This record gives sequence, structure tokens and C-alpha cells, in this order.
Amino acid sequence: VTLGRCFGIGVGPGDPELLTLKAARVLAACPVVASFHARGRLSNARRVVEQHLGPQHEELELIYPVTTERVDADRYETLLIDFYDESAKRVAEVLDAGTDVAVLCEGDPLFYGSFMYLQNRLAGRYATEIVPGVPSAVAGAAAVGVPLAARDDVLTVLSGTLAADELAHRVADADAVVILKVGRNLDKVRAAVREAGRLDGAFYVARATMAGEIVAPLADADADAAPYFSLVVIPSVVGRRR
Ligand SMILES: C[S@@+](CC[C@H](N)C(=O)[O-])C[C@H]1O[C@@H](n2cnc3c(N)ncnc32)[C@H](O)[C@@H]1O
Repeated sequence: VTLGRCFGIGVGPGDPELLTLKAARVLAACPVVASFHARGRLSNARRVVEQHLGPQHEELELIYPVTTERVDADRYETLLIDFYDESAKRVAEVLDAGTDVAVLCEGDPLFYGSFMYLQNRLAGRYATEIVPGVPSAVAGAAAVGVPLAARDDVLTVLSGTLAADELAHRVADADAVVILKVGRNLDKVRAAVREAGRLDGAFYVARATMAGEIVAPLADADADAAPYFSLVVIPSVVGRRR
């Protein structure tokens, strides 16, 4: 048999209307649709494509082994490596049978996305293809509605999981900034942005383009309520000055 192809489909930041025409077309043509889930929770990417799935689709659920429970860093790494190995094996079985698989990815597949860990396990043996999606970083800037970066600006993208001092000096050196993975890191992120002297003009965006979207000055954001889907946008000042 001809081997199946594996598509990494960026579904965008949450609003189903931000799914691309290409994503919808490829999805319609893929008999198997795989998605990453936290245990007991429908993935957001899966929710975005709801109206594009039908009885012709078979679903493959790839369930993360850990969610919010605390495990030490080495153990966590091992669990995740095993999980991606196992997930790649399950996808490979479908591809071996000659069936195409669409793997759903929040935002863009290769922008801080889990798809890359499947891709690096499968790409040697199977044709893999990426359908890019609207990344949360630009959806966040759109929600704020001010220019993110202009002219000579350097756009810095940071993860809220970085250490506080690392965040602070990166933000201090930056023009425009987007910080992902804010959620439970919000207090640390805010303190770092304050230390960098950029709290004034920094925005907090939760659930960009989804139901319950919140846009607020970072100074006012409620740390206890910050969901996983939250980020910080610090627009450059250049776009506003001109
Ligand atoms: C593992 S990264 C995935 C990024 C994704 N591949 C993309 O292109 O946007 C997850 C982080 O993306 C951010 N994120 C994704 N969707 C979001 C949304 N709709 N609103 C706010 N933040 C979002 C959050 O910071 C979250 O912690």
C-alpha cells in the first residue's frame, strides 16, 4: 500500500472562523483526525473544528500523561518522551495502512506546538505536511488592537515558564514583546515586566478570539483567574508615535 500522509493542521487561536480554508479542505479529506487532550477535557483545537467533523471521520485521542499534578522535572521529561513515542506509534499504524491523518494543533503547529514532537518522530518515514494557522501571539495583539511591531522593532516572544530574572532582562532589552504560557505564571510575569519598567502599556489577554475573551491592562489582571490560554502583549511604542 501507499503510506498515508500526516498533516499538522493549525486551527488558529479559538474562533472557528479563523480556521483557514485549506485547513477545512484537508480536514474534510483526512479519514483520521488526531488531537492532543488533557485527561478528561475536550481539547480546544478539537472544539474549533467541531462543525467540520462528521461520521466519516475516525478520531484518535492522544491524552497527555500529566496535567496539573506536580511531578519532578526529570520524571516529567521521561513521561512526555514516552507519550510522544507512543503517540507517534499510534499515528504510524494508521499511516502504515495507507490512511491520511490530520493532527489538530492550536494556533500554528510549529509555533510552540506539540505537533513538532510527532513530526520529528514520523518525518523520516512518512510524508508530513504543515498547514499553518493563526498563532495566538497575533490573535492577542489583534484583541488589544494596537500596532505590535513596526519599522526596526524587534519582536521578542517569551515563555512565562522562564525564570523571573531572565524574563525581566529580556523584557528590559526588548521593543515589542509577547509572553506566552502566562496562566499560573502571571504573578511572576507581572513582577518581571514591572521590574523591566514596561508594566505601563502591557496588556493581559485571556482566551483571545474565544468565548469569554478578556483584555485588560496587565497591572489589573486577576492572577487567580488566569487560564492556560492567556498571554501578555507589550506593543512597541514606535507604531503609535509615527
Ligand atoms: C503550547 S503554546 C501553543 C501555541 C500555539 N501553537 C500558537 O500558535 O498560538 C500554548 C500557549 O499559547 C497561548 N495561547 C494559545 N491560544 C491562546 C488564546 N486563544 N488566547 C490567549 N493565549 C493563547 C497561551 O499563552 C498558552 O499558554
